[in-house]
Amino acid sequence: MVLNRFFFLLFLAGLTSCGTDSSSKNNDALPIETPAEKGASLYTLNCTSCHGEDGKMGGSGAKDLSQSQLSDKQIKKILQKGKNAMPPMSAILETEQNMDCVIQHIKTLRK
Ligand code: HEC
Repeated sequence: MVLNRFFFLLFLAGLTSCGTDSSSKNNDALPIETPAEKGASLYTLNCTSCHGEDGKMGGSGAKDLSQSQLSDKQIKKILQKGKNAMPPMSAILETEQNMDCVIQHIKTLRK
């Protein structure tokens, strides 16, 4: 009987703590990587083989990203559909959010 009451109290404590800290729990669940870090690591993984870490490599005839003047929208279109020797990247980047992170990253390569 004593044991049952103990579990009942635990149950109550669980209920009240859920009500109060649910927002701080969500904050704890945020990814450790910032969007900028994510963009940089996705770029290193998927783009440097042709573009190089600084965007200037020009492998397979790739455009120099430090000289690129394209808008976010134009970049997104190339990432989605590919262009000439550049294959489409949407399947590799997986999500729209990842694509946006990469776009923000390559704009930091501009001089
Ligand atoms: C297989 C080699 C290859 C890979 C991998 C690659 N690219 Fe490209 N990229 C190219 C080539 C080639 C072009 C030039 C296309 C053209 O205009 O003929 C290009 C062009 C671009 C352009 C247009 C630049 C401009 O000003 O015209 C952007 C932006 C770009 N790539 C971004 C990326 C990003 C971001 C990734 C990784 C997610 C990536 N590329 C991966 C080969 C590659």
